[in-house]
Amino acid sequence: MLFLRIYRSPLTALPGPKFTIFSGLWLMYKEFTRQRRKWLHQLHLQYGPVVRIAPNEVSFASWDALKEIYISGGTGYDKTSFYDLFDNLDEKNMFTTLDKMTHATRKKRFVDRYNKSTVMQPDLVSVVRENAGLFIAKCTESNSADIYVNLHCYSIDCISHHLFHPYGFHSLTDESDIPKMEEITFYDALVEHYLQYYFPKLMALKARIIRPKDRQHGPIASHVLNLVRGGPETDSSAVLHKLKNHKESPDDLYIASECMDHLLAGTDTAGDTLCMLMYHLSLPSSYPTQQKLHEELINSPIDTFDDLPYLDAVLKEALRCWNPAPMSLPRRVPSDGRTIAGVFIPGDTIVSCQSYTLHRLDTEVFPNPDEFIPERWLHDDDHTARNQLMFAFGAGGRMCIGKHLATLEMKVLLQEVYTHYRTKVADDMTACMDLDDQAISSRPKGQKCLLQFEKYSD
Ligand code: HEM
Repeated sequence: MLFLRIYRSPLTALPGPKFTIFSGLWLMYKEFTRQRRKWLHQLHLQYGPVVRIAPNEVSFASWDALKEIYISGGTGYDKTSFYDLFDNLDEKNMFTTLDKMTHATRKKRFVDRYNKSTVMQPDLVSVVRENAGLFIAKCTESNSADIYVNLHCYSIDCISHHLFHPYGFHSLTDESDIPKMEEITFYDALVEHYLQYYFPKLMALKARIIRPKDRQHGPIASHVLNLVRGGPETDSSAVLHKLKNHKESPDDLYIASECMDHLLAGTDTAGDTLCMLMYHLSLPSSYPTQQKLHEELINSPIDTFDDLPYLDAVLKEALRCWNPAPMSLPRRVPSDGRTIAGVFIPGDTIVSCQSYTLHRLDTEVFPNPDEFIPERWLHDDDHTARNQLMFAFGAGGRMCIGKHLATLEMKVLLQEVYTHYRTKVADDMTACMDLDDQAISSRPKGQKCLLQFEKYSD
């Protein structure tokens, strides 16, 4: 019976290692050992843009596939139960909502708070700029500074302001808020997530015996819940205010799960991208890039930060090379099956693209894909293919709602730093800056990055 099913399955004819026709065990092994992203990338280099990676799972790496999976019909295919891992307080949030209809209803409740026009309001820009100033003050207190910690303080202070103003965190100036940043940033969820995904019943039994010590039940979760339940009234600009005062009055746990998701999504992503970028700009090989950026910045008025071509190219290239969400974003093929990039895929198959590979596989679009070359975004040729394959923030109706806020935070910080300072890797910097995978995101392995800041005299 099993052999007949395998023989008839359209996935059997797809490119990929033979053993993946029979078993997903190798994929599971790669996941538990933090090698999924790299293994998939190797397979795509070997087999091309379509690869079977398990009996019921296929990875794609082309614009045609990306468009079909994530954009067709506006929102693409529904998410898989993998996203249940990111529920907070045992409650769903927009990110973990699987189906389109429920997702659209939730999104309407607060999406305007993340529109570009809202995010670029002078009040918010000036708070972000103030935080960038505090970041610099912290980094220049001594000869060298750990920008990994300081950048995550910066990003949590910015996102918590947007969510809870005036009850956001101030970890750049108030030491008592630092544990909140640490709880988010230094948490390693990989094994727990995959155990939960593959063995949910076993983990539920374990949770009944031993009270879990995870992030869902930690101080951040209770802090957010307290702010939602009976906490003081937030400013009308805060996301929490919008959620609490919505006419459909969503319940407390729903609001807390949503806010917690934005807090988690908004802290490590921006912090890790900036850290990888500033580290690479601080290597001697990037000094010319740093100089070019400095020259653009000192010759531009302060409020033009969003329209500076070189700053834009530097950030885009950082998101291409070191996207903090470089792994597969899984979706379920609708039950009647679909043709993806010219291949028929049966209903309920798990399909995905990973940005790590989309940003590297086609070397005509991205020559020397492993090199950091901001200039590639400034060429006069047609940008369409490059932009289509840029998947750092996802695509379609489920793409990142925090894109404009994250871009604001990253551009303002880079502007404040590189207008006034030259950065160098500190002599005692030994931490590993390779990307280390969690289940969907990646971060610098050593979680430490020592840089020196030298003030320009011009
Ligand atoms: C460099 C910064 C960031 C990157 C690279 C990034 C990346 C992404 C990606 C790839 C997705 C799509 C996930 C999927 O389809 O499965 C996503 C979704 C999301 N992101 Fe971000 N993100 C960033 C910053 C932020 C920030 C600052 C927030 C703050 C609110 C945020 C909140 C969200 C939310 C709520 C979703 C779910 C959207 C939905 O399901 O409709 N992200 N992000």
